[in-house]
Amino acid sequence: MKVKLSRPKPSPLRRHWHLAPGIVFLNHGSFGACPKPILKLQSELRQKMEAEPVQFLWRRYEERLEPARAALARFVGARARDLVFVTNATAGVNAVARSLKLKRGDELLTTNCDYNACRNVVVEAARRAGAKVVVAEVPFPLQSADEIVAAVLRAVTRRTRLAMIDHITSDTALVFPIARIIRELEARGVDTLVDGAHAPGMLPLRIGRLNPAYYTGNLHKWVCAPKGAAFLWVREDKQASVQPAVISHGNNRSRPGYSAFQDRFDWCGTFDPSAWLCVGEAIDWLGKRVPGGWTQLRARNHALTVQGRRLLCERLEVKPPCPESLLGTLATIPLPARFQGLPPGGKIDAEQLRLYDEFGIEVPFNRVGPKATRCFRISAQIYNAVAEYEYLAEALAML
Ligand SMILES: Cc1ncc(COP(=O)(O)O)c(C=O)c1O
Repeated sequence: MKVKLSRPKPSPLRRHWHLAPGIVFLNHGSFGACPKPILKLQSELRQKMEAEPVQFLWRRYEERLEPARAALARFVGARARDLVFVTNATAGVNAVARSLKLKRGDELLTTNCDYNACRNVVVEAARRAGAKVVVAEVPFPLQSADEIVAAVLRAVTRRTRLAMIDHITSDTALVFPIARIIRELEARGVDTLVDGAHAPGMLPLRIGRLNPAYYTGNLHKWVCAPKGAAFLWVREDKQASVQPAVISHGNNRSRPGYSAFQDRFDWCGTFDPSAWLCVGEAIDWLGKRVPGGWTQLRARNHALTVQGRRLLCERLEVKPPCPESLLGTLATIPLPARFQGLPPGGKIDAEQLRLYDEFGIEVPFNRVGPKATRCFRISAQIYNAVAEYEYLAEALAML
């Protein structure tokens, strides 16, 4: 049954997306959403690929790949030679964790805020080697970034070989103080793999300056590239030991002008590279939607997130679980007491389904912290408007 609350007006910029009319889309965080002009470009590239498959995928592949890599390098503050495309952040984490030469008794550090799929990767890498996964317990709710740094550092031992640390966490939507964490871990002799799945396009990035051992990020989320576009950056001294999750020709065929690292990753078997090839245009196009470019776009999305969270916390009479300084363009908000204490009812919570089916709102629900507090997570992309968060507050009140 559709409930008759009048639907809020989204931002006029939403006309550039295919998002279904009548759906209030407050979950950009899960998979992003690709704008029409970028999808059109991707279709054109696919047509070219099918018109001349060998020319496109083999003989002249690098002619299209290199401009995309160069644009990405500028955008994330890195050298192009340290960057490779992967299909998603999960593939980036797989490449790094499964390339580690672990010994029995070694420790891999992660946090209780990590992403389940990535946790599974480090668990499997540890299991194979007889190594151990140590989970740092980051509090939630929390008051300051110091609590995050302290939790991570408390979990370090002299056996810690690698720490997988999210730049922006998924369920708790916290922007971790990643520069401090990398620095402190480095000082203790621990390499960091940054899971930056949400970072590109949400935060300004200078990966070369951050200089962790490894950094992976998605481009289909906050850069709005087509799905299948992500990257892995590896510090030069680590590149020789990193293999892609799928090994192909690059291990014994080198191309002039490319590092062995790039040879291994640039081709992982026949696939559709069109998402990667759209990355430069996606960065350029999205950055031009507001006069102040990417800086203004990120600031606008952050301000809308803060405004949305404030009004939802007020209307629902719940306390914000973290300071605004730890927010990017996602925010996790606890549900009021009357929603708490219910066991999970399946893949998707009943209230989340009702929000979609009855009110046309796409917003994720989750359970976080030691008490499995039921929360929901909002996001803000330039197609959103404040009226959409007001509408969500009204709908939640009616559940
Ligand atoms: C923190 C984090 N890491 C990794 C991922 C995995 O991204 P993908 O499914 O694109 O590999 C996500 C997805 O939302 C995420 O939030």
